[in-house]
Amino acid sequence: MLILGIESSCDETGVALVAWDESAPPEQVPRLLAHALYSQVAMHEAYGGVVPELASRDHIRRVLPLTEDVLQEAQRTLQDIDVVAFTRGPGLAGALLVGAGVACALGAALQRPVLGVHHLEGHLLSPFLSQDPPQFPFVALLVSGGHTQLMQVNAVGDYRVLGETIDDAAGEAFDKSAKLLGLGYPGGPALSRLAESGNPTAFKLPRPLLHSGDLDFSFAGLKTAVMTQARKLGEDLPARRADLAASTQAAIVDVLVRKSMQALDATGMRRLVVAGGVGANRALREQLNAACQQRGVRVHYPELALCTDNGAMIALSAAMRLQSGRSQAHDDYAFDVRPRWPLDQVDEGLTAP
Ligand code: KG4
Ligand code: ZN
Repeated sequence: MLILGIESSCDETGVALVAWDESAPPEQVPRLLAHALYSQVAMHEAYGGVVPELASRDHIRRVLPLTEDVLQEAQRTLQDIDVVAFTRGPGLAGALLVGAGVACALGAALQRPVLGVHHLEGHLLSPFLSQDPPQFPFVALLVSGGHTQLMQVNAVGDYRVLGETIDDAAGEAFDKSAKLLGLGYPGGPALSRLAESGNPTAFKLPRPLLHSGDLDFSFAGLKTAVMTQARKLGEDLPARRADLAASTQAAIVDVLVRKSMQALDATGMRRLVVAGGVGANRALREQLNAACQQRGVRVHYPELALCTDNGAMIALSAAMRLQSGRSQAHDDYAFDVRPRWPLDQVDEGLTAP
């Protein structure tokens, strides 16, 4: 079974081919044959953030050439594709419609069924494509630009939200703090690079909800604290920028690590999966590794290239849904997208019609 996956929920166009053998045992993880990505970051940089209309138009330009690239790399043709998968949500409505529209047009032209999947489920399952894939069940720390959640993951589609952010996401906290430090867009990777040369204990920044007794997060206060510090420093800011970046990163990472450990304690689980763009952060990985090792807990990450948005995780999510019988692809091509779509309602519209 060959699945083409198309991701277009935000500012990255991703296309990938994933294969699975229908006669293989269900625990066999589908294989990634090829994936291709086009990031629009340079285009949005000038505006300091994603411009939805520009994002949609650019997805239109990229998606078919990327599809040709992956077919060529995997030495397959359009006719070899069995199912066309796309990101149905959550994300920017216009951007999602491009991927959904192209997927359904391809499906109709090739007379193959389609399946729209959940972007965050894609992130959640992406570590299955790594050298060290996890096994169900596990606790997942999902840290992307728009979401920060701790989930109990029992099986494909069986997710329980343990805690989530009540305001900004962790990625947003990185991006907004980076903006205050004059680091451009998207600031997460730039802030973490600068933090390498700074002192993480130089500034005392808040760790909201650390002792709240639940598994929720709050990051909005952090950017206010960073802004106050930056203002206080005034002319000294350039000389102390790395220290402030390192202290900001330390505050975010500290909260993420401690709440993840609390989630493992609360569920009694011995496995942690980290997914989403912030999962690429080196300090986060180092501290999670240390904390998990201390407790004898296994921790799994996606390959670095598959931490941020990509088509591979979308093709994989469709493949694992089909493989587990949780979803069936359909051929009515009457696509609708879901810009807002809570992960614990993932099965709505994804079960057999
Ligand atoms: O998962 P993702 O690619 O997109 C969403 O679905 O939102 O996550 C993007 C987020 C951005 O906020 C970006 O700044 C952050 O992930 N990010 C990082 C790093 N790489 C990406 N944050 C901190 N350190 C990094 N190395
Ligand atoms: Zn994402």
